[in-house]
Amino acid sequence: MADSTKSATLSIGDKTVELPIHHPTAGPDVLDIRKLYSQAGVFTYDPGYTSTASCDSTITFIDGDKGELLHRGYPIDQLASKSHYLEVCYLLLYGELPKAGELEEFENTITRHTMIHEQMHNFFRGYRRDAHPMAVMVGTVGAMAAFYHDSTDISDPHQREIASHRLIAKMPTIAAMAYKYSVGQPFVYPRNDLSYAANFLHMCFAVPAEEYVVNPILARAMDRIFTLHADHEQNASTSTVRLASSSGANPFACIAAGIACLWGPAHGGANQACLEMLKEIGDPERIPEFLARAKDKNDPFRLMGFGHRVYKNFDPRAKVMKQSADEVLDLLGVEDNPVLATAKELEKQALADDYFVERKLFPNVDFYSGVILEAMGFPLSMFTPIFAVGRTVGWVSQWKEMLNDPQNKIGRPRQLYLGETARDYVDIENR
Ligand code: SDX
Repeated sequence: MADSTKSATLSIGDKTVELPIHHPTAGPDVLDIRKLYSQAGVFTYDPGYTSTASCDSTITFIDGDKGELLHRGYPIDQLASKSHYLEVCYLLLYGELPKAGELEEFENTITRHTMIHEQMHNFFRGYRRDAHPMAVMVGTVGAMAAFYHDSTDISDPHQREIASHRLIAKMPTIAAMAYKYSVGQPFVYPRNDLSYAANFLHMCFAVPAEEYVVNPILARAMDRIFTLHADHEQNASTSTVRLASSSGANPFACIAAGIACLWGPAHGGANQACLEMLKEIGDPERIPEFLARAKDKNDPFRLMGFGHRVYKNFDPRAKVMKQSADEVLDLLGVEDNPVLATAKELEKQALADDYFVERKLFPNVDFYSGVILEAMGFPLSMFTPIFAVGRTVGWVSQWKEMLNDPQNKIGRPRQLYLGETARDYVDIENR
């Protein structure tokens, strides 16, 4: 726990409460209210947790005003350009960049966990072909608890380690199988001679009828997309994983809960919703119409891929994603991608509009990712599953950190009750 050399004095009625203030290594001070109810008999109220720290953590730091994102202190733009996804996984899981031998051992371990139990293939045949792949991932990842009984005991550090490796390794396999099943093609087994990202592309796009050679440019772009999605502090899906885990639930159930939360269009589902929006806009001439709708309080429409609870400046991941979109489309020889052109014009007009400027609404990680993924050949329905693949290491790292925290206890928020006070039952003939 951080040091707390100061405190805040809170006076409520005839009660005065001293609340410790904790000083982080970065970011705002934190007011410790754990004794507030016992000492002052009041709750705090913070729907959506806009001002609430749910835990302490050493994994990821975000400065929303500066548009800064650090993983164990390393800026995301440096990791995206100089590192690669499995090295970032090691960093998030263990706290330091690996030495050569450590990285090789970790990569070998993950590579040899990429196959799923053969009997799990039967799950896929129970789904409709047109099921959304996120529905398939929620069900199949949760069902891992029905197969990997030797890594569900969260009190055993060795089992926690195995579960961590299995989840990181098998998520691409499950996502690729969900895609293959949706297009009626046979499953493609993972290959141990391919990198993590290349393996995912191969499992998605190879067919038995001919050899499929992974384009190294696409593999690099895929790896970078996984890296950009790896972790993001206490976002909604990570908080869901932490809350589910606080009851002692097994790791597969907790990650399945995280996948379910990520699916929402306000969160990880925004990458699919953003591309649907860009396609609906179609002609850049229609952008003012959509900006007007986004500003209209009577219209539920929002600019998908825009705005963020924490970033009140550019999302640093969006900057890297935008550069990557230009590179990938250029290297693929896609001259004028109309969707990318619309995205860039929409960004330009929104960032010149007072409504967005005053509310500090900028493109987020989901604004450009879909343009790249579609150019790589993925259907829109696979965008959020790919986000889930990248974020699995973040969920798992935060899950491990929580279980190692001696302060860990079940999460049980209270409420501001506005319902009826006690009243007697009324027989039906008297109602
Ligand atoms: C992710 O938390 C994370 O870290 C998430 C994430 C991660 O890596 O885990 O970064 C991934 O989920 C990115 C966000 C993806 N979602 C979208 O792109 C959906 C569109 N964005 C919005 O729904 C919204 O911006 C949120 C949900 C992202 C943030 O919502 P907040 O913080 O609750 O902001 P708010 O609703 O209080 O909005 C503040 C104001 C409001 O206007 P006023 O009431 O003040 O007049 O800004 C407006 C909002 O109406 N606003 C938008 C808008 N986002 C906010 N108006 C139009 N379009 C938008 N996109």
